[in-house]
Amino acid sequence: MIDFKKIIAEKIAKAAELDANEIVNYIEIPPNTDMGDFAFPCFKLAKTLRKAPPAIAAELKEKIEVDENIEKIEIAGGYLNFYINRLVITASVLKEIENAGDRYGANNSGEGKNIVIDFSSPNIAKPFHIGHLRNTVIGSALYKIHKYLGYNTIGVNHLGDYGTQFGKMIEGYKRWENEYNLEENPIDQCMDIYVRINNLCKEDEEVLEKCRENFKKIEDGDPYCVAMWNKFKDLSLREFQKIYGMLGVTFDSYNGEAFYSDKMDEVVEKLDQAGVLTDSEGAKIVDLEEQGLGVCMIKKSNDSTTYATRDLAAILYRSRTYDFDKCLYVVAYEQNLHFKQIFETAKYLGIPEKSLNGLEHVAYGMVRLTTGKMSTREGTVIKVDELLQEAIDRVEKVIEEKNPEMENKHEEATKIGLGAVIFNNLSTSIVKDLVFDWDIALNFNGETGPYIQYVYVRTKSVLEKAGYVPSFEEVNLELLQDKASQNVITSLYNFENVLMNVTSKSEPSLLARYLIELSQNYSNFYNENKIIDDDKAVQNARVYLSKSVGIVLKTGAELLGIKMPNKM
Ligand code: ARG
Repeated sequence: MIDFKKIIAEKIAKAAELDANEIVNYIEIPPNTDMGDFAFPCFKLAKTLRKAPPAIAAELKEKIEVDENIEKIEIAGGYLNFYINRLVITASVLKEIENAGDRYGANNSGEGKNIVIDFSSPNIAKPFHIGHLRNTVIGSALYKIHKYLGYNTIGVNHLGDYGTQFGKMIEGYKRWENEYNLEENPIDQCMDIYVRINNLCKEDEEVLEKCRENFKKIEDGDPYCVAMWNKFKDLSLREFQKIYGMLGVTFDSYNGEAFYSDKMDEVVEKLDQAGVLTDSEGAKIVDLEEQGLGVCMIKKSNDSTTYATRDLAAILYRSRTYDFDKCLYVVAYEQNLHFKQIFETAKYLGIPEKSLNGLEHVAYGMVRLTTGKMSTREGTVIKVDELLQEAIDRVEKVIEEKNPEMENKHEEATKIGLGAVIFNNLSTSIVKDLVFDWDIALNFNGETGPYIQYVYVRTKSVLEKAGYVPSFEEVNLELLQDKASQNVITSLYNFENVLMNVTSKSEPSLLARYLIELSQNYSNFYNENKIIDDDKAVQNARVYLSKSVGIVLKTGAELLGIKMPNKM
């Protein structure tokens, strides 16, 4: 595909006598096509050129010649807007989609780069709630998109499988074994045991001491305690796998916190050697007060390690094992301070500079229900498997009412129900809190997953009605020059750029928004143009455009983890 951005950057660079590689990063895509296809914000050069942006714009416009690619250039305030020759861009996009098919938009910008993505990472023996769902969906989308752009991507599920709570679980199970059947509804049973033993610990210090001993026994390899701990872990994972299976989420590693139990001494040694480890009331800490980050606790006064110590061991391990250029942590923003602390402390572990600079906390906002806050105790936590099932059931009911003859009803309802939930989790910027509302998520006309699926199915039925798929050679590009068609072309052209932005900003919502925009542009085109037409040439062009939109919608949705239905 023709890289217009690069062509424009080279022209600007030549005119301003600057480096095109720098200029290319400044070029933007305007919010609407009336403002051109690409815009150059001249204020970026104000300092270097010591001129006001409008003056720079005027000067550049004077120097840059229009050619076969660029139709016109206009000044708008401090911006220089570039309008691409519509026939050239139409040919370039449609040909590329024809050639690349379902690999359209893929590139090798990540080639040779290793990226670890730490995501989902739930705590064992606790329910998987809708916060984890958002995490899982965001992480998995980032995973798929990085892979698509050629990165060597490693997905890690850093399970919370370590700590005194397992000592507690064992103690509770020892006491009340006969009252529970862990095989049936394991997480609920575990939660029940956990709440009960916690209450007992509060009343009785001796019980708490026993729990601590149990945990110590796990660490020391006591067969009973280790076996019990493995059992809780296996049962939980079995439950989590159901959810991952439904969502189509996979990991390359399940090395959780416990994996680092024998790898923490080295962290302590390294910090000690670096001279940053200090004693504080019997505990060992790294003092980060000067950086405004409080203290990072490495060993508690009772000699036990912390969540932070294990994360530091994980950084060391991942840097060695994967030689990562980037390591993303998809974790709620409540843990902001934790990640600032460990990234700062990681400077003393002696890992390569590139790994150190590649540490990034991808913080996402809370998920709330329209009914208010969740609480494990009050039982207002919505369990994710139940939520996913309800989404599917609700869609199935609608299909039953409106289209009872539909083939493979259950399969299609599953794709739509899950698509709705996944999209809802990705459609707002990840830093924002999210309110989960059934009516919004499942609305087929709103800015939702089902809307995109609906538009996709429409492109398919256009092809069915036509009864054939024209080839690129049969398309007269002149017949796609109306505004509605051209808005679709512009959206299609921008796909790869959107994917690049998702990786550079760790923001999958950009792709979700993009798919809405493409769907809306196609809907406009569909409403304004008669596609199945007596004029065969007109029909060829419009059917061809529909086919291309279908490919990009499907590819984009799959990168978010959404499957496309065949009928709707
Ligand atoms: N298990 C933690 C939690 O549920 C999240 C772990 C995130 N990953 C990490 N490397 N700290 O809060």
